[in-house]
Parts: sequence; structure tokens; C-alpha cells
Amino acid sequence: MQTIQIFKNDIYKGHLILVNQDHPIVSPISFNEMVTVMDQKIHRDVGRLLLKIFDDLQCHQEIICTSGYRSSNEQSVLYESSLKDYGQEYTQKYVALPHCSEHETGLAVDMAYYQESIDKICPEFFYDGICQEFRDLSYHYGFIERYSEYKQHITHIGKEPWHFRYVGYPHSCIMKEENLCLEEYHEFIKQYSLYHPYIYGDTHHIIEIFYVPIYDQETLCFQDDVCIQVSGNNMDGVIITAWRTCL
Ligand code: DAL
Ligand code: ZN
Repeated sequence: MQTIQIFKNDIYKGHLILVNQDHPIVSPISFNEMVTVMDQKIHRDVGRLLLKIFDDLQCHQEIICTSGYRSSNEQSVLYESSLKDYGQEYTQKYVALPHCSEHETGLAVDMAYYQESIDKICPEFFYDGICQEFRDLSYHYGFIERYSEYKQHITHIGKEPWHFRYVGYPHSCIMKEENLCLEEYHEFIKQYSLYHPYIYGDTHHIIEIFYVPIYDQETLCFQDDVCIQVSGNNMDGVIITAWRTCL
């Protein structure tokens, strides 16, 4: 058996953390967890997978990452300059409040179709051609298109075809299949527990997913042949992803 110990500060770390206006960043990413890709600092797991998508699509000349990690200070400067240049309505729609931006996690990237002039806040990223190929493939690598027009009443952010958030596979595919944004996914996963997990299968794995509330600390035991991932939800608990390989 393997034993996993989860502590209260694990609530605020991991690929699935929800960061929005109601749930600011608690545990900022450290610099040694980041790499530089296309001149942008991003979480190393995100950098590796982004490059993998670029290699698969051979799209280095056509699309580019225009924004990755931003410190809270950088987000604050962006927010203030947008307010000054474009006003309150536009800014509230397209720029998250400082401490409340996914860019501060290092898990979000803004993608742009390569053009001579690229808008810094709202870059063009189309729903056809190479941009759509990127979008379709990115789900399989753990990314979601985070801000859809149909979820604006939940996310309080406008439609952003360019903003991708890494949440990890298979969570990205489940969100797509069930048509859930990240806020809804966390509510959805809360229905599932250690003894009643959500089960997702692909050709090679049986993957069990469930929520564990964390009050102080928790100890969980698993069989040795299961690979366990733990991510906080940035609210009140963690999501366990337990991988079993099909032989
Ligand atoms: N554009 C997104 C909402 C951000 O500023 O994080
Ligand atoms: Zn963005």
C-alpha cells in the first residue's frame, strides 16, 4: 500500500486550482517551477506540453504565445493601463483583477495567430485553420479554452478565444465532453468521493477522480500499482486523480 498525506496548504497548489474574482491566488508559483518558452515564463509542465503541441502541429511560424506568467504587480499594471486606455467596461470584461488572474498561476497562456500587429489584451485566435487545430489538440494535452461566451455569467469574463488554461488530462477532456467551465467542474467533482469516484477510461488507463475536503490534514491509502496526482481546488479541498494502467 502507498500512503498519501495531504495538508491544508495543498488546497492552494496544483493544476486544477480555481483562480477567479472570488478565489484569489493564495500560493504563488515559485520561480524554480517555471521555464521560458517563446519569451514567456510559464509553469514547466505547461511549457513542455505547449512545445509538444507545437511539434505535433509544426505551427511555429503561424501561432505564438503572447502572454504566460504575470506577477500580481504586472497584472495590476495591465489592469490600470487598460482602465486608462479602454475604460471600465472593457477592462472588467477582459482583464482579471490583480491576485485574481490565472496568468499569476503560470498555468494560463494567451495564444495569437501570428500577424504584424498583435493586440496585447485581445489577440486574434481564430475558430478555423491552424488556431482551431491547436484548440482541438490542446484538450488532449490537458488545456481548456477557459472563457466561452456561454459561461460569462459564471466566469464574469468575456469570451476569450485566445486564453488557454492548463488543468491536466483527463480533466480537460471531461470538461469538454460535459460542457463544464472550471467553476462548474469543481462543483461537479464534489459529488465524487473515495468510495464513489468519477471513472474515466481511455485506451490505456482507468482513471478515478474524486474530491477530498481538507479541514486540517488527511491521510489516504492506495494500492501500490496506482499512480496518484493531487491538486488543490483553491477553496476547501483537493482533487485526487488515480491512474491505473490497463494491461
Ligand atoms: N484576460 C484574463 C481574464 C486575465 O487577465 O487573466
Ligand atoms: Zn489570458
